[in-house]
Amino acid sequence: MKDLFEKIKKNRGPIGQHSKESHGYFTFPKLEGDIAPHMIFRGRQRLNWSLNNYLGLANHPEVRKADETAAAQYGLAYPMGARMMSGNSNFHEQLEAELSEYVKKQDSILCNYGYQAMVSAIDCLVDRHDVIVYDAECHACILDGVRLHMGKRFVFPHNDIANCEKQLERAKKIVDQSGGSILVITEGVFGMSGDQGKLKEIVALKEKYNFRLFVDDAHGIGTMGPTGAGTGEEQGCQDGIDIYFGTFAKSFALIGGFISSEEHVVEYLRYNMRSQIFAKSLPMPIVVGALKRLELMRNHPEYREKLWENVRSLQNGLKAAGFNIGNTQSPVTPVYLNGSIPEATNMIVDLRENYNIFCSMVVYPVVPKGVIILRLIPTAVHTNDDVEYTIKSFSAIENKLKSGQYMSDRIAAV
Ligand SMILES: Cc1ncc(COP(=O)(O)O)c(C=O)c1O
Repeated sequence: MKDLFEKIKKNRGPIGQHSKESHGYFTFPKLEGDIAPHMIFRGRQRLNWSLNNYLGLANHPEVRKADETAAAQYGLAYPMGARMMSGNSNFHEQLEAELSEYVKKQDSILCNYGYQAMVSAIDCLVDRHDVIVYDAECHACILDGVRLHMGKRFVFPHNDIANCEKQLERAKKIVDQSGGSILVITEGVFGMSGDQGKLKEIVALKEKYNFRLFVDDAHGIGTMGPTGAGTGEEQGCQDGIDIYFGTFAKSFALIGGFISSEEHVVEYLRYNMRSQIFAKSLPMPIVVGALKRLELMRNHPEYREKLWENVRSLQNGLKAAGFNIGNTQSPVTPVYLNGSIPEATNMIVDLRENYNIFCSMVVYPVVPKGVIILRLIPTAVHTNDDVEYTIKSFSAIENKLKSGQYMSDRIAAV
């Protein structure tokens, strides 16, 4: 027998094992100052490409004012308790109604965290007779929801529709016997690669396999589609999405999320979703703040247009400079490079300390060994100068990477 704490001391987890060297710099960095393209990191201004503040709402004066006024008026506690017991308000219901109208669904339920919403909704919707079919690159919150499922689950390789159909055939055989149902889960925009889920193709399979489709559109809400209503709107298949999820953590620059569907499904979630019945409801400033953000999203398409202008100039500029940015079809901009983990860390230090650029880096085990992804998130508040400077700097660091200059031991400054 092993003492639990002794075990934890020895095995600190895939990321935690590097915590001593990485904490405060590569992990848990502190970005200070107003949320904007230029923020303070370790006492110095850096050009920041790491936040999902897509529409630039985080520091919008009307947003700041609405947040401030609501916090002064209601405090952060109100309303107390779970929605079902004592935590409901007219504003919560108004926000649900406005979100439903925005994403063109009958009804919506607010959730405290997007992550928790996905886990809990999956848990709530299916039972052991049902089968889940899902994309292999789905976000951790979907994988964790699937882990709670007591019935069968089948995964298809990322966006492989032929394989998805194979899994649906397997699923159909099971539910024909069990009397259960099939739930397909995928994402609108995949947050690492930036490519869109093949929603239209999946929707087309519904006729043959009679399943319900649940789409996590965390990165799509506010950014995709002519009105920003998401990736279903973008692909012209919003009606075919049976259950739609959006977070407030990205375009809304807030916290919380929502799930939209037919009225009776949302009613079912309201009375059965454990993360909502057994947890406190969203505080009023969050709800009032979300209403303000939604109003701005709907009334100011120019924020989305500016975002896409920046996306195009960044992505086209990187491609013209010879960078591989994969198959992104969204603002998420991965730059794929080749090198070891020490090279990647040296490169990031160089980028931060000598070029004053702050962006996220993804390495093994999230991606295969030898692959480095530098992930850039353009927003509506970046400028052309930001874009041009970044492309130039990236070309410089790529040359250093290719010529082996990052191969030495870890740069001492960190
Ligand atoms: C695809 C996806 N789903 C769900 C979440 C979780 O959302 P939240 O941050 O609101 O918990 C995120 C973001 O972090 C995400 O990228």
